[in-house]
Parts: sequence; structure tokens; C-alpha cells
Amino acid sequence: MRPQPTPSPAPFAARPVPTGDPGGHDRGAATDAAINGQPARTTIAVWDPFVRIFHWMLATAVAAALTTGLLLPATWTRLHIAAGTLAAALVAARIVWGFLGPHFARFATFVGGPATVLRYTRELIGRRAGRHLGHNPLGGAMIVALLALLIAITATGTAALGGVLKAGPLAFATSYAAGSAAREIHGLLAYALLALIALHVAGVLFESRRTREDLVGAMIHGRKRGMPGAGSARSAQARPVLAAGIVAAILAGSTLVSAALSQRPAAGVPTAPLDPAYAEECGACHIPYHPSLAPAAVWTALMNGLSDHFGEDASLDPATTRAMRDYLVANAAEAYDTRAANVFRRRAADDPLRLTATPFWRRRHAEIPAAVFASPPVGGEGNCAACHADAATGRFAPAAITIPKETTS
Ligand code: HEC
Ligand code: HEC
Repeated sequence: MRPQPTPSPAPFAARPVPTGDPGGHDRGAATDAAINGQPARTTIAVWDPFVRIFHWMLATAVAAALTTGLLLPATWTRLHIAAGTLAAALVAARIVWGFLGPHFARFATFVGGPATVLRYTRELIGRRAGRHLGHNPLGGAMIVALLALLIAITATGTAALGGVLKAGPLAFATSYAAGSAAREIHGLLAYALLALIALHVAGVLFESRRTREDLVGAMIHGRKRGMPGAGSARSAQARPVLAAGIVAAILAGSTLVSAALSQRPAAGVPTAPLDPAYAEECGACHIPYHPSLAPAAVWTALMNGLSDHFGEDASLDPATTRAMRDYLVANAAEAYDTRAANVFRRRAADDPLRLTATPFWRRRHAEIPAAVFASPPVGGEGNCAACHADAATGRFAPAAITIPKETTS
């Protein structure tokens, strides 16, 4: 048997230390050797390598996800999803480590009930709070809040990916409407995460000042100033092999399930290739626009006015006109649930036949300079396929967007 930590007789203690504090607790930091100008006598390994690597990898993944999600254009969506997936995997691993890691990594060590958090907050305000080797109760609450928020962000992000972009494991079952709602929440939660991160950093800086301990450094090298008597004995033994096995099983299982679900046909996405006759007749002067890009009423109006088609005579013989109209109406926006089908249903009142006049199109392409549309490799706003590699399928996925560079020759 190793001796149990007995913090009360610590020579540093300015006042009695409450018992039953699993976090390692040393009151009266003001009398600690380190602040009397002498180096601390002992240091103790608090943050194990996994916790430290996890912490900085998560910070990097979250920073990448926030940057690509809030600041960069839609063409960064692929990196955004990769960063979010990495963050989710890290959170899963951290949760397992919270039950099987060493003493200071365990939730049982630093997660207290609301009463504990409240008491600590009151002590903090009254400048009576002690020092914790691990997370203090407020810090512990922050860890739980951050992990819970990241789980909610991952869930809403996956639902948004499924419903709006019709990709990922939920695409087979998520409508555009549900995906859009999830996307709204996903965005709001991202701002909540930013706020929590700001609070977390402020808390760390505050606590570093208050206890005169470099907490950022401690998350890098893992060590903190020791407390006599509280150093060696830690009840919880880490189970790294078991933890690694469980994490591997969770990651492999979710990858397999996700891959299997992603194989299912996405809800409301066109699968048939463009009708060859349509592609030939209506692709003579511009790209053949996918029927899902306009509602049936627009196609009917357009097909009834081919003799004056945006200033051109695009007339076809009556039988071909009828066949093209029937094809367009049967496959119009109403028949699909893609993002394009949903956003191009709303037409501009003054120019209802043009999809480049729709509010969505104008807004999403507002930042592209007119010179880019006029450049030879693009040749006009209506030449969607110049930038959208999947224009013919009607999907318009962000991952398929590239603005062609003008070749100088
Ligand atoms: C004789 C050439 C010609 C043919 C054939 C033709 N179009 Fe067009 N189309 C045009 C021109 C010119 C424009 C206007 C382009 C512009 O202003 O940038 C246009 C524009 C359009 C637009 C609006 C694109 C935008 O900017 O939003 C749609 C939709 C469209 N055509 C559909 C069709 C369909 C459907 C057919 C087949 C029945 C067809 N077109 C056949 C010449 C043609
Ligand atoms: C010069 C290149 C270019 C052309 C031409 C172009 N687009 Fe785009 N489009 C873009 C870019 C870049 C974005 C991403 C903008 C952003 O970051 O929000 C985009 C975004 C979109 C989106 C939203 C994708 C998403 O889910 O975020 C749709 C839908 C779309 N375009 C449809 C069209 C259609 C329809 C046409 C043809 C009538 C067209 N685009 C022509 C470059 C182009």
C-alpha cells in the first residue's frame, strides 16, 4: 500500500484544508517557496503525455475548423470537415482517457457537482481559494462544457453536411430543411465555442497569476510545483492499453458505420445523367442547365418563349419543344432536395427566368470580380461548369469549385 495523500499537515497550509479534495489542493500559495524568490523545491508530473498532445492537437483542429468555417469561403469546406472530424476523434479519445487515464486525467478527479463549483467560486471571490494541482472545480466545469459543446457541434455539423450538402453519413436520411436548421445551430454553437475558449484562456491567465504558476507551460511540459505529501500517491492507475483498444474500436467502428451509411443514396439528389437530347438541343449555345436549377413554372415560361430567348431565336420544332418541356418540368427543382434545387426556387421578380439573377446566385458570387467572369476560361456568368466541375449533375458541391486561372501564353 502506498500512503494516501495527506494534504493537511503541509507546512505551506495557511489554514485548514478541507478533506476529500481529489484534485490536490494546497492553500496559502502565498507562502510557497517559489514566490519567496527561491526555486520550487519539487515538481510533480500532472499532465500526462496524452492529455498534453490531446490539448494542443484539439486546439489546432478547433482553430482550423473555426477559421475555415467562419472566415474562409465555401471552397474550404473539405478542410473544415477534416478539422471537425479530427476534433471529434480527439474528443472521443479524451472521454475514454477521462475514465481510464491516470489520476489527474480522470473526470472523477476534477468534475464536481454544481455545489463544488459554487463553493469554489465563492472562495475565489473571497480570495480564500486554494491551489489545485489538477483542474480546479471551475476549470473542470470548463472542460466538461467544452467537450459537450464540441459533441453538439460535431452532431449539428454532420446533420448540416447531410441535409445541405447531401454528403456524409446522414445524407441518406436528412432533408434540406432539417440540414439548414442544423446548420444555423452549428453556426450559433461555433460562436458559443469562441466565447468559451475566450473564457478558458482568461481563466488560465487569471489562475496563473493568482497561483504564480505557469499553467500554459505546465500543459507543455506537464509538470507543476509539487506539494509535500501530495506528490507520489495517486489512487487511480492508468490503463493505457485498454484505453487505446477502446479508442481504436470506437474510431474503427464509427469509420465503418459512417462509410456504410455514406454509401446509401443521398435523399433527393438527381442520379440520372442529363438527357442526351436535352444536352444537345439546349447545350448548343451555353452549357445545358440542369433541370433541377429552376422550378417547373420557369421552365414552362422559358420553353413557351424560345423565339425570343434572351434576345436570341432558340426556336425548336413543336415536337422537340414539347419533349424538352416535359423533360424539364418532370425534373424541375420541385422534384429534388439538393441545395441548388432549394435555393434557385426563389426567383428575382424582375428577371425570373435567369438563375444568375436569383438573390442566392447574386449573393454567393458577389465577391468574384467581373473580370473573372469575362476572362476567356470562364466566358460569362452563365458558364457554371467553368468553375463548378459537377454542374452537369446539379449538385454544385463546394468541394467541386475551382476558379480557373487565366493562362498567359
Ligand atoms: C441559339 C442559342 C441558344 C440556344 C439553342 C439556347 N439558348 Fe439559352 N441562352 C442563350 C443566350 C444568348 C442566353 C443569355 C446569356 C447571357 O445573357 O449571358 C441564354 C440564357 C439561358 C438561361 C439563363 C442563364 C442565366 O444566365 O441565368 C437559361 C436558363 C437558358 N438559356 C436555358 C435554355 C434552354 C432550356 C434551352 C433549350 C431549350 C436553351 N437555353 C437553348 C442562347 C441559347
Ligand atoms: C467564376 C467561377 C464561377 C462561375 C462561372 C459560377 N460559380 Fe457558382 N460559385 C463559385 C464560387 C467561388 C462559389 C463559392 C462562393 C463562396 O465561397 O460562398 C460558388 C458558389 C455557388 C453555389 C453555392 C455552393 C455551396 O454550397 O456553397 C451554387 C449553388 C452555385 N455557385 C451555382 C452556380 C451556378 C448555377 C452557376 C451558373 C449559372 C455558377 N454557380 C457559376 C464560382 C462560380
